[in-house]
Amino acid sequence: MSEPLVLGIETSCDETAVGIVRGRKLLANVISSSVEQHARFGGVVPEIASRAHLEAMQHVISAALHEAKVSLQDIDALGVTAGPGLIGALLVGTSSASGLALALNKPLFGVNHLSSHLAVDALNETQALEPAIGLLVSGGHSSILKVTDLASDVEVLGATIDDAAGEAFDKIARLLELDFPGGPAIDLLAQSGDSSAIEFPRGLTHVNDREEHLYDFSFSGLKTAVSRYLKSTPSAVRADVAASFQEAVVDVLLTKALSAAKSAGIESLIIAGGVAANSRLRAEATRRCALAGVRLRTPPMGLCTDNGAMVAALTSLMVTAGSTPTSVGFAADSSSGLERLLWR
Ligand code: KG4
Ligand code: ZN
Repeated sequence: MSEPLVLGIETSCDETAVGIVRGRKLLANVISSSVEQHARFGGVVPEIASRAHLEAMQHVISAALHEAKVSLQDIDALGVTAGPGLIGALLVGTSSASGLALALNKPLFGVNHLSSHLAVDALNETQALEPAIGLLVSGGHSSILKVTDLASDVEVLGATIDDAAGEAFDKIARLLELDFPGGPAIDLLAQSGDSSAIEFPRGLTHVNDREEHLYDFSFSGLKTAVSRYLKSTPSAVRADVAASFQEAVVDVLLTKALSAAKSAGIESLIIAGGVAANSRLRAEATRRCALAGVRLRTPPMGLCTDNGAMVAALTSLMVTAGSTPTSVGFAADSSSGLERLLWR
């Protein structure tokens, strides 16, 4: 099948999202988010998310088909996020996709949420970047990956040992009394702050950490440092705190990712996941990659946070590569890592 028409469903967290692609071309990307229902709790409430997925699913699928100007019968294959994520939320997606696959008699691919964040890079790009270093920075994960083949070979070089980068943004935002999710709010506030005002710690960058944690991250010390600073400095300028915190995160993410690229002799970097929407990360990555002679790709802003297009994109790569579809009846896995890119 040369240019498969693929519908991808994503429900791992609080976005009910459906994307449709033909080959590497994006035809539709529809997202219904329950984020406002979680805001007053300061984080995603799993039960609320699952219920919202159930309520939104049918409408989001119809809207995506309408946007792509195709019918369900035209679809060649279905893709769905099978993990990691909130189990109840994942189950709404995998059940919906399984039902559709059975009814339409079409192949179904249960795929990994983390690698689909990276695979969104394949959309509208004719030139594959692999091998590449992947810097995956989301609300649940922060990893440095060696991407040999987006559809079949992604190796974890390092990961966070405590909070994820997006989680750190969300927690610091709460300390600064900003809205959830914290990333966009800090990004905005930091634009009027001085990023060199406060020297916050860069986790796991000490020479003693190199042996065991060369490409790992830790953001809990940074969180404690910001919290202590705010408590001990009544005159703290919030914008300076936001900018200095953001600078510490961006610095450590890029230093480690580019060092991994250099050691592996890899000349491409793909940054993906919700935090890839951060304006300072994008600007600094552009600057540092140019200096290091590394090709950089970041998804368009609208495709950084969770969406269905990324699931459809990864599924399309798998269909094109001739991968074996997932058996209907497969089990979603809330805690899967990157050892499983495609469910059997
Ligand atoms: O990838 P994603 O949508 O969901 C997960 O798979 O986790 O990422 C959500 C995370 C949240 O923690 C959010 O605060 C963060 O991405 N985020 C940002 C920005 N936009 C979203 N972090 C920093 N700057 C941003 N502009
Ligand atoms: Zn995600």
